[in-house]
Amino acid sequence: MGGKEMEVDSLEGVGPTTKQKLTDVGINTILDLAIRGPSDVADGIGFDMARAIELCNKARVKLVELGMMERDFVPATEILERRRKIGRVTTGTSSLDDLLMGGIETQAVTEFYGEFGSGKTQICHTLCIMVQAPPEDGGLDGGAIYLDTENTFRPERIYDIARARNKDADEILSRITVAKAYNSAHQELIMGEMGSILDKTGARLIIIDSAVAHYRAEYLGRGTLAERQQKLNRFMHLLTRTAETRNVAIVLTNQVLSTPDVFFGDPSKPVGGHVVAHTSTYRIYLRKAGKNRIARMVDSPYHPEHEAVFILNEKGVDDGPSDPMKGKQISR
Ligand code: GTP
Ligand code: MG
Repeated sequence: MGGKEMEVDSLEGVGPTTKQKLTDVGINTILDLAIRGPSDVADGIGFDMARAIELCNKARVKLVELGMMERDFVPATEILERRRKIGRVTTGTSSLDDLLMGGIETQAVTEFYGEFGSGKTQICHTLCIMVQAPPEDGGLDGGAIYLDTENTFRPERIYDIARARNKDADEILSRITVAKAYNSAHQELIMGEMGSILDKTGARLIIIDSAVAHYRAEYLGRGTLAERQQKLNRFMHLLTRTAETRNVAIVLTNQVLSTPDVFFGDPSKPVGGHVVAHTSTYRIYLRKAGKNRIARMVDSPYHPEHEAVFILNEKGVDDGPSDPMKGKQISR
């Protein structure tokens, strides 16, 4: 994607100064403008809200003209057409793939939540490898971007998992781009730049491990609940729009608290409360059962209610030796 007509200064009223300010906050194209939306533009470059809205609307209109964004009223047939482009990435285990009806989807945000050691980070590492496979092997023939907020990305682990899966580990590593976020503002900044990174790398998978850790830690230190929830909400919507407009898969992880927390209340609920829950397209709850890990699809209108058993080993995530629970339907 590129070309003169995508430049922000192709819009009426955008001169060199505004263009520079937009570039500084990672808005390089009119598509970035439309995806980031008026609040981000207003905050990022100091426009008042009315001007930011006008600018983003102009970007939308232009994208519609260019055939790159949907009109406000869209025939259902077109939506079907877009949904036919949904791709799937295998998780590397047949039990989790069954649970997800084929793997994680593009145009969607998939949330894995569970207690420490339940396998969230291992799933993320494995997906970075699987997405690179050709479609006939369950991948999307694309790279991955790993937004690491807890400093748990390990290239060595990628290397070992790739080797265990008989893949060229160096080649695999070369198609993974890592961004470390040091605080929630930095995390938002990185996500804002995702458009141009996707253009550069052709990645089809974005991992955010963990999506909410910074928000939680910072709230416990200072700030107000409402402000944090608002920021998290904006971040989550940016994820959704990016997944849909760029046809990429987005996977995020989320912790379950073991102690009650003033920020998010109920200890058995994932951090981020309603904000993350309502914005994620699919949610998978992970728990430990000895050496096994058990995954359960939560609240999906499409997926049958069942649990999948998997293990963590040299292949990252893998099917257990015996799978008594596999595909088992459970009643509520
Ligand atoms: P938090 O981020 O702490 O909330 O946990 P998480 O859900 O991300 O857990 P993670 O995916 O890091 O899983 C950790 C578990 O993976 C460990 O307890 C091990 O059981 C397993 N694991 C991690 N690395 C390896 C490895 O190299 N080999 C094997 N066999 N298992 C590993
Ligand atoms: Mg982790």
